[in-house]
Amino acid sequence: MKAAIVTLPGDGIGVEVVAEGVKVLEAIGHVYSHTFTFQECLIGGAAIDAAGDPLPEATLAACQAADAVLLGAVGGPKWSDPSAQVRPEQGLLGLRKGLGLYANLRPVRIYPELREASPLKPERLQGVDLVVVRELTGGIYFGPRQEATDAAPVAFDTMLYSADEVRRIARKAFELARLRRGKLTSVDKANVLASSRLWRRVVTEIGHEYPDVALDHMLVDSAAMHLMRRPADFDVLVMENMFGDILTDEASMLAGSMGMLASASIGEGTNGVYEPIHGSAPDIAGKGIANPLATILSAALLLRYSLGLEAEAQAVESAVTAVVTSGVRTPDIAGPGVTPISTAKMGDEVLAAL
Ligand code: IPM
Ligand code: MG
Repeated sequence: MKAAIVTLPGDGIGVEVVAEGVKVLEAIGHVYSHTFTFQECLIGGAAIDAAGDPLPEATLAACQAADAVLLGAVGGPKWSDPSAQVRPEQGLLGLRKGLGLYANLRPVRIYPELREASPLKPERLQGVDLVVVRELTGGIYFGPRQEATDAAPVAFDTMLYSADEVRRIARKAFELARLRRGKLTSVDKANVLASSRLWRRVVTEIGHEYPDVALDHMLVDSAAMHLMRRPADFDVLVMENMFGDILTDEASMLAGSMGMLASASIGEGTNGVYEPIHGSAPDIAGKGIANPLATILSAALLLRYSLGLEAEAQAVESAVTAVVTSGVRTPDIAGPGVTPISTAKMGDEVLAAL
């Protein structure tokens, strides 16, 4: 097949990890005789520096015209001044909204060899295999907001959801649960928030269309605790945008490192944005030591969800498993006594396994 892929390296380690993701996609194209074309565009801080805009029009247009987008990370201390008029993160949020990518899938898989990298006791990690479905274009990230000023030192953000927004994300989550172990946990704060009471009512209603899926509801504070206490009990979780942001960073610790967690942002069509859940990691940027596996696994999700290439996606995932099993490690997952390898070397290892 032919596919046009836009790459958005962004900031910090985004540049280094996306290079490895592209290497892997190129290899897949070569091995399976697909013609993938790559177009690199600006986003985030890099785009602010070059064009004064974290999401230049040309970038959004290229992404809209593409079959899929592979993204690194945005942000960094250079652009973090609280009084700045534009922020790198606006580029990412604008891209998600602009492409209508309201569903963010974040799978958490445990590699038995990485159990020691997790701060949890190894026995707790037995059987952990879950997916967080994070609502991505609504909620408190996008509701009405007011910045504080010196004259009026009051600020607010609004968690706003319509029933339709909850309905469509709930359907995605039920569909996914149906293909897995048939369990869905809807996470909310219905004991306090009106938007959560709507969320719970709508998810319950949609649940009647999926009698084969066992639905339960959990308050977000309790979910944060149970993710650590009994993570293997979860199958699919669905939640509001910010709850999903927070709980997926927490859940990444089950896998041992943020550097292992991939994500897919999808909507109604086949186009999607694929990115690691980690950020730009300014502290290690430019050193060539970032873990590219989350980006490589995101490239696998791109093959699966946007291009419909399931065998190719599995080939990438198997290659990552083989590399992890073989014992090579970037610093974030290297245990004591293991000499870590570089970002590029890790990419090469995946290519060799492919
Ligand atoms: C994520 C990130 C982003 C988010 C930031 C960079 C805006 O933390 O994808 O989880 O909050 O959605
Ligand atoms: Mg986050």
